[in-house]
Amino acid sequence: MTRRYFRDSGIVNGMRVLDIGSGAGDVAFLAAELVGPQGEVVGTDKSPAAVDAATARPERSLDNVTFRQGDPAELVFEQSFDAIVGRYVLMFNPDPAAMLKRIARHLRPGAIIVFHEVDWSGVKSSPPCPIYDRCNDWIVQTFRKVGTNDSMGFGLHSAFLNAGLPAPTMGLHALIGGGNDVLSGIDLIGDLVITMIPVMEQMGVVTAKDVQPETLIERMRREAIDNASVVVGRSEIGAWARVP
Ligand SMILES: C[S@@+](CC[C@H](N)C(=O)[O-])C[C@H]1O[C@@H](n2cnc3c(N)ncnc32)[C@H](O)[C@@H]1O
Repeated sequence: MTRRYFRDSGIVNGMRVLDIGSGAGDVAFLAAELVGPQGEVVGTDKSPAAVDAATARPERSLDNVTFRQGDPAELVFEQSFDAIVGRYVLMFNPDPAAMLKRIARHLRPGAIIVFHEVDWSGVKSSPPCPIYDRCNDWIVQTFRKVGTNDSMGFGLHSAFLNAGLPAPTMGLHALIGGGNDVLSGIDLIGDLVITMIPVMEQMGVVTAKDVQPETLIERMRREAIDNASVVVGRSEIGAWARVP
């Protein structure tokens, strides 16, 4: 989905790309694939641990991908960029429009800005799978308690406008499938819940004992198979525009 949004936004061979909140580097390496050896990607993340992890990846042998630690809104770059990309990062920031405005100054005129964020409101299972539904509820409740925006995907339009950017072109995709379908998103939601257990406990949402992480994914899959259910994941929303 991310690759599709980046391609649709106009990212092509030879471009110089800035990745915002690069985390473990997946998006930066994806962008590197699109811009090829003639292009260049700079990943940025405020977390030193994320930058260390991304830098240690074997794909780092690509000499056109580098990672810099810091807030990209504050960082200074010697050259401007042909594109800014980001995924699952605005949702963690209290004022996404202000962030977009500040990072857009790194773009040359006519450059591209593209973000991929999520929205949890369309998550569904039919016929209902209570464990899957409960897992999504736990995630959303926890996000709300810690100030993470679970509807950032739909907030992209207004964030672009409030940042003084053109109204974005948008796209929406979601994972969907039955219990045996690896693309149903059951694994993804199960893994996310398991990763979030410490913060869920801290926020008083649920305990590890209730989650039973050892069997969670298998129970969710079994429930979907037994009910012949289809599960629909969160909305994966892309938004892109060219700056004047
Ligand atoms: C959920 S991860 C996403 C990583 C990557 N973009 C991906 O999709 O695989 C979010 C990352 O954004 C980083 N981040 C959040 N706000 C940031 C900011 N204002 N400046 C730099 N990095 C930020 C976090 O440290 C974290 O590594």
